[in-house]
Amino acid sequence: MVMDWREARRGCAAAAAMVILFPVIFPALFSPMGFAYPSAFSEWNAPKPRHLPLLKGALQREIPNLQTSDLWSPLANQGWKPCSKPSSSSGLPMKSEVYIQVFLDGGLNQQRMGICDAVAVAKILNATLIIPHLEVNPVWQDSSSFDEIFDVDHFIDTLKGEVSIVKEPPKEYSWSTREYYATAIRATRIKTAPVHASANWYLDNVQPVLQSYGIAAISPFSHRLAFDNMPVEIQRLRCKVNFHALIFVPHVRALGDALVNRLRSPYGKGATQYLQETTDSKDKQARKFVALHLRFDKDMAAHSACDFGGGKAEKLALAKYRQVLWQGRVLNSQFTDEELRNQGRCPLTPEEIGLLLAALGFDNNTRLYLASHKVYGGEARISSLRGLFPLMEDKKSLASADERAKIKGKASLLAAVDYYVSMHSDVFISASPGNMHNALVGHRTYENLKTIRPNMALLGQLFLNKSMGWSEFEEAVLEGHKNRQGQIRLRKPKQSIYTYPATDCMCQT
Ligand SMILES: *[C@@H]1O[C@H](CO)[C@@H](O)[C@H](O)[C@H]1NC(C)=O
Ligand SMILES: *[C@@H]1O[C@H](CO)[C@@H](O)[C@H](O)[C@H]1NC(C)=O
Ligand SMILES: *[C@@H]1O[C@H](CO)[C@@H](O)[C@H](O)[C@H]1NC(C)=O
Repeated sequence: MVMDWREARRGCAAAAAMVILFPVIFPALFSPMGFAYPSAFSEWNAPKPRHLPLLKGALQREIPNLQTSDLWSPLANQGWKPCSKPSSSSGLPMKSEVYIQVFLDGGLNQQRMGICDAVAVAKILNATLIIPHLEVNPVWQDSSSFDEIFDVDHFIDTLKGEVSIVKEPPKEYSWSTREYYATAIRATRIKTAPVHASANWYLDNVQPVLQSYGIAAISPFSHRLAFDNMPVEIQRLRCKVNFHALIFVPHVRALGDALVNRLRSPYGKGATQYLQETTDSKDKQARKFVALHLRFDKDMAAHSACDFGGGKAEKLALAKYRQVLWQGRVLNSQFTDEELRNQGRCPLTPEEIGLLLAALGFDNNTRLYLASHKVYGGEARISSLRGLFPLMEDKKSLASADERAKIKGKASLLAAVDYYVSMHSDVFISASPGNMHNALVGHRTYENLKTIRPNMALLGQLFLNKSMGWSEFEEAVLEGHKNRQGQIRLRKPKQSIYTYPATDCMCQT
């Protein structure tokens, strides 16, 4: 399995400590960042378009109607659908008297996978699961708990036939807290779960602890349950958790619905106009929209070690960031920018994703929802994209400050809203692989929704070629993305069932 880039860096304890100390040293770098977040030091000369000839070509493009309609049409039935139900041959769990606890790090989507795996491990061990504890991520700094993000009653209720789940440990185990495990070595802490542990590993190593103490706290737990050689009912259960039991809290869904309605509104743009949504909208057709996940923050830019055209100042700033956070130990920095691009290892910039969408046939009337809450380089970095797609919206442009008050400054809730809107889009595309991309690819596959997966290696090579004209670029892009628009791909060994739910959780019709 290809580890998420964020996982790769987690291996180093010293670096992790540094991440925690970092805000104290440079608090300005960690202040909540909006689109035009003020930088501690001026590190870019406003980034300029890097592919000016292509950009000009894209702005003058003509879009044949036929292609446009094909672009927006939903995916045909591919012969796969969610399997009816997790086979609950094991029946109702007996009221289990032993308890499993997990502490999950990472961002929203990594925690989501951890939650699904925790339910599966509780099932394997016939234990009652205590609602997982979500750790505060050092980069995103959101302290939201499980029940502030997910609808906890829906979660417990959906799974009640299979695993018993409680919100809190019972009184006799109230000592079993995160603080308790943080302060000393404890007999009930399972610290040694290997990455992709088997079901038997849990039976051999955790079952005895449960028998002796009645409770086991597994931490670290991310990526600690294998995807291969699992009983069918465990795989189906994991999917049931991910695709059915985990829904966001009502206020996140309500805000998400409001954003989706405004994106679909046949009327103009701008939050104020949406406040007087009218009733005659039946007359006009609902509009379609593309959700674009654009993770292009400083953390990601620095970690990729690619050159993003911000000149010497930007290069120095990113190198400095790498030095402070990871002591310069970043795999990609062994390669030149050209090598990285040739291998498709650079996240697409907003400009590049705009050129990709234009080449695929999206015209300048396309509504684009930007699922992203910070862009390194601010508005200057996204101006080329906005030039190609003037009807670009985000949470801020679509909803008032009052409407956004409950999610303000909370990275996980902001990501939850983006996830929700992205699930309701006609087309989803992501500018870089990562947890959010993988989670949505999997979820949209499960519901047979269109998802464009950029061919990073091809695009890297095309963007390196400075003599390529628009029509050649367009042709190469179309050819290279024919089979990357949501066609079912079956999971290969070691791949995640959350990214590739067929065939573990999807059955042929
Ligand atoms: C869990 O319960 C099932 C059914 O009651 C039983 O077959 C299985 O052996 C139990 N597993 C463990 C680990 O106790
Ligand atoms: C799209 O482009 C056409 C022609 O280039 C222009 O006339 C039109 O105003 C543009 N639409 C938007 C929404 O900017
Ligand atoms: C760049 O693109 C041009 C036009 O398509 C092509 O002729 C040329 O071979 C390409 N160069 C490289 C290095 O791929």
